[in-house]
Amino acid sequence: MKSAFDQIDLSKTPRHVAVIMDGNGRWAKTQGKDRIFGHFNGVESVRATIKAARRAQVEFLTLYAFSTENWNRPKEEVDALMDLLVSTIISEVAELMENGVRLLAIGDLEELPMKCRDELKVAIAKTADNKDITLVLALNYSARWEMVKAVRAIIAQQIPEQNVTADVIAQNLSTANIPDPELLIRTSGEHRISNFLLWQIAYTELHFTPIMWPEFREEHFFEALVSFQGRERRFGMTSEQTELTK
Ligand code: IPE
Ligand code: IPE
Ligand code: MG
Repeated sequence: MKSAFDQIDLSKTPRHVAVIMDGNGRWAKTQGKDRIFGHFNGVESVRATIKAARRAQVEFLTLYAFSTENWNRPKEEVDALMDLLVSTIISEVAELMENGVRLLAIGDLEELPMKCRDELKVAIAKTADNKDITLVLALNYSARWEMVKAVRAIIAQQIPEQNVTADVIAQNLSTANIPDPELLIRTSGEHRISNFLLWQIAYTELHFTPIMWPEFREEHFFEALVSFQGRERRFGMTSEQTELTK
């Protein structure tokens, strides 16, 4: 069977794809295992997604790994997620280097366990010069947290009221030097944003798939790109105008 990859127009792949990796717990339940088993199995999906994004020449891949609301889960699950984060960062650095992946992180990193912060810093520094793709991990992230932080930063800089523009707001978000995602994928069949990149997705195309995150593979990523490329992005204009600007 032909892969969805062959249907992608590589000259028009989105620069930035963001992913809400969801469904680990429910998938584990279908396997008769506990939720943490689902998180462990989600790591392979992360690898596959990075590979697929790189192959499709995507420049930025943002993965929502832990939200500020996820602290409200049972302590054993939160602890297991933090441990998994640390061990995955350590185990994957070599592969990130091999594949030219530059790592960045957005979110309230100061509130992460020290070990996590430290390993993250090491991996970010080590991969800083990699050029093939930028992987942005959203960790202890939420869009409302980010917006509050941006407003505070703007006030602290004493920017005159009339100078506060959309660009100034964007520059004070944690994604300051990252283009807005053209495509957002959410797995697990949920149709919501869950406090992810609210400002940045103003005109993003949304792709929802029922696949649970631990089962998400390269082909699913390519299918999302094919769906994206079949859409007309009008940005408030008419279809006729959009045709002219192509
Ligand atoms: C996504 O899977 C991983 C995180 C949010 C950390 P979930 O853990 O949310 O799995 P479900 O949605 O409960 O199945
Ligand atoms: C969103 O998933 C957060 C991450 C994927 C990290 P959740 O599972 O936390 O979202 P809700 O609670 O279903 O909205
Ligand atoms: Mg979930």
